[in-house]
Amino acid sequence: MKDNKSAYNAGIYDDKIINVLPYYQEYHGQIIDLVRNMEVHDPDWLDTGCGTGTLARRVLEERDDVKFTLCDPSENMLAEAKEKLAGKDIRFFRLSSQQMMFEAEFDVVTAVQSHHYLQPAERKNAVSKCYQALRENGVFITFENIRMSTDDGDAIALKRWAQFLREHGNSAEDVRMHIDRRGTEVFPIPIEAHINLLRECGFRSVDLLWASYLQAGFWALK
Ligand SMILES: C[S@@+](CC[C@H](N)C(=O)[O-])C[C@H]1O[C@@H](n2cnc3c(N)ncnc32)[C@H](O)[C@@H]1O
Repeated sequence: MKDNKSAYNAGIYDDKIINVLPYYQEYHGQIIDLVRNMEVHDPDWLDTGCGTGTLARRVLEERDDVKFTLCDPSENMLAEAKEKLAGKDIRFFRLSSQQMMFEAEFDVVTAVQSHHYLQPAERKNAVSKCYQALRENGVFITFENIRMSTDDGDAIALKRWAQFLREHGNSAEDVRMHIDRRGTEVFPIPIEAHINLLRECGFRSVDLLWASYLQAGFWALK
């Protein structure tokens, strides 16, 4: 039994994830660059599904004006994040996105690989809570697993991912495990569905930030 919904327990997550998700560090880099160029000063920033706190640490390495609130439903993930960010003035909450009750408190809300475990209604609830947490003109930035728009396209994308996994030291058994999680433990949706969902949740401006054959990033303004 794992201690969170990702493929790995919290204690080994950081070591494993860079060899499982292509471009993992790029997601955080894109977020940091976007927020920097939006010129939001002294932002109140919520990261939901913060995991081990890697995004917050990277942001705080670059700037010291951010006030972070970190949420995650996994106690063990939060424990890792607290250790990684020890000494920083950060609020931590053990909450899923759907459980959050923040009202117009944040300039930036991020959710990186946090909502692909959810069925459509729950996913919409989670994104709506992110919308609700933002101040007017605040930005929501999310990276999520995607599926291609056709089964043929998706089959090729999965072949590419399997090759990445093999080339990054994953056993044949682990490659199978990751592929088999799609549709059973994680539920990727196409780029268009992500964009529609963000619009349905009320965002006035919705755009693609970055995309690969497996993940995509989106940014949306309230
Ligand atoms: C793949 S990890 C991503 C962690 C982190 N965002 C990162 O960039 O490394 C997924 C995280 O989402 C959390 N999670 C699972 N269900 C969630 C939900 N409904 N709302 C928010 N976070 C969730 C998990 O506990 C886990 O920490």
